[in-house]
Amino acid sequence: MCGIVGALANRPVAPLMMEALRRLEYRGYDSAGLATLTEGHMAIRRAPGKLSALSDLLEREPLSGASGIGHTRWATHGPPTLKNAHPHRAGRVAVVHNGIIENFAALRAELIANGRVFTSDTDTEAVAHLIDLALETGRTAEQAMAETMPRLRGAFALVILIEGEEDLLLAARRASPLAIGLGEGEAFIGSDAMALAPLTRRIIYLEDGDWAVVRRAGASLFDETGQPVERAMSISTVSGALIGKGNYRHFMEKEIFDQPDAIAHTLHAVIDPGTGASTLPPPMEQADQVSKITIVAAGTSYYASLVARYWFESLAGIGCEVEVASEFRDRDVVLPEGGVVIAVSQSGESLDTLMAMRRGRAAGQRILGLVNVPESTIARESDGVLLTRAGPEFGVAATKTFTAQLTAFLGLAIALGRAREHLAEARALELIAALSALPARVAEAVSDQQAFAPVTHMLARARDVLYLGRGLSYPMALEGALKLKEITYIHAEGYAAGEMKHGPIALIDEAVPVIGLAPSGPWFEKTVSNLAEARARGGRMVLITDAEGAGRLAVDGDHVLVLPTVDPMLTPILQAVHVQLLAYLTAVEKGTDADQPRNLAKSVTVE
Ligand code: M6R
Repeated sequence: MCGIVGALANRPVAPLMMEALRRLEYRGYDSAGLATLTEGHMAIRRAPGKLSALSDLLEREPLSGASGIGHTRWATHGPPTLKNAHPHRAGRVAVVHNGIIENFAALRAELIANGRVFTSDTDTEAVAHLIDLALETGRTAEQAMAETMPRLRGAFALVILIEGEEDLLLAARRASPLAIGLGEGEAFIGSDAMALAPLTRRIIYLEDGDWAVVRRAGASLFDETGQPVERAMSISTVSGALIGKGNYRHFMEKEIFDQPDAIAHTLHAVIDPGTGASTLPPPMEQADQVSKITIVAAGTSYYASLVARYWFESLAGIGCEVEVASEFRDRDVVLPEGGVVIAVSQSGESLDTLMAMRRGRAAGQRILGLVNVPESTIARESDGVLLTRAGPEFGVAATKTFTAQLTAFLGLAIALGRAREHLAEARALELIAALSALPARVAEAVSDQQAFAPVTHMLARARDVLYLGRGLSYPMALEGALKLKEITYIHAEGYAAGEMKHGPIALIDEAVPVIGLAPSGPWFEKTVSNLAEARARGGRMVLITDAEGAGRLAVDGDHVLVLPTVDPMLTPILQAVHVQLLAYLTAVEKGTDADQPRNLAKSVTVE
């Protein structure tokens, strides 16, 4: 959350930093700003709202200079107004910041008592004052940083520009990601390698607690104790090309349509569809020695993990717990010897998931990262990586990365089931054949949008919506409700269909659409009974089912969305497409911004 950049170049940096911020806008879009130095003097431009507002401002009031810092904000402390937009300046010092300075209130009080005047509500401004104060008392920039860093608590990344210092940026990382890019006589800093991709591929990732003094000729790094350290330079594989949305209205729509490719590419990571052979990633190569799987994740990645639990238990015979990362990280977890924690994260940067993964490691577990970004922090800290190959996802709502996660999980469960001799080979080959044919089924599911119009018309006018499902469809009810909430702002909840009678049924009346996820298969009969209970209370039924289920379940007045028929184990992947389309088309009907919905950011690097 919050994208930060810094540049020491031999050319004007404002356009370079704007391009980098465009690549980071997925991290937040409440306000944006740049600061540059020209002949030693600092100038700042800031604008509330999306990056386009800053771009307009720069047209009217351009910024020159070959040194600078930039920011796109996801608000934590203080509303998304001009005065709270970064960079924040105190005296000679300007700061851009991602994350939270937890002890900012105490620092602020101390600085105010020292005569410092604050102009924003942010936690960031305290850092600018601390560095400026240290410079005022004669410290060098490096000394100021060495003194300031131990005073800051929290998880954050910082880039600092000092007036009069044209060949200097200071940078720091504690938990929140930060990378330094080295060019030819130029140096850059960014929240991720994607921001730096058009500028350089030579990347140094700061480790937790590191801070750096960056000059055009290179960077000096220090660890959290202030000792000089060396960190390896890697060559990034991230493409410098900026992906557009083509003829689609939104990235989200494009990414829904990208799913057949995302699934096909991901499948190849664990299964060879040609031969049917499956491979196990480290640390799971010795499948019979894996005593338990614990999955930690947030949001949509958490719902993918709930589906995976069914697969691991049923296909591989392995005990599996799925944990909300932000809760798991602060518990005194007791985990068995030989256990594996799977950290699931599209971005590979969600701070909650990263911290939960570290908690798992501290509890003696080996770590498998399931991520879509190969150079992310979770990937770099894992013992092994299972990569979803969905390509970059720009819509805030996870779509293609979700179905790619499901595909990777199912492939892994099949591979584990085989290796543990829990899954009969004939059934494994049947599932692999079904998975190989899945991209074509998903293409069918996305192509049939006509049927959605009456449903989205109804949903766009609803105040509350319920999603119900059983078994493998239960996590999909949760995911469907999350998608609708995120991009349409309609209140929606997902429930286990059998749990409804224990309370939530009280919510149902003629005004409440009820989305029933009821494919034919193991949970069909019981789901039918639960949906009948909802129908009897006047709920307006929308059934997401297959042709057989529709024939047995639908009554006059129901809306029915029919999915292609697949092996019951694979139904969540198809249901995902329908719940995504329901949310997306409802957002289009309501006119909300599906790609950049209010209050959200794609990569959540605060706690
Ligand atoms: O990058 P991650 O998968 O770790 O992100 C986790 C959640 O923040 C994410 O899934 C969020 O819930 C999405 N906006 C869902 O559409």
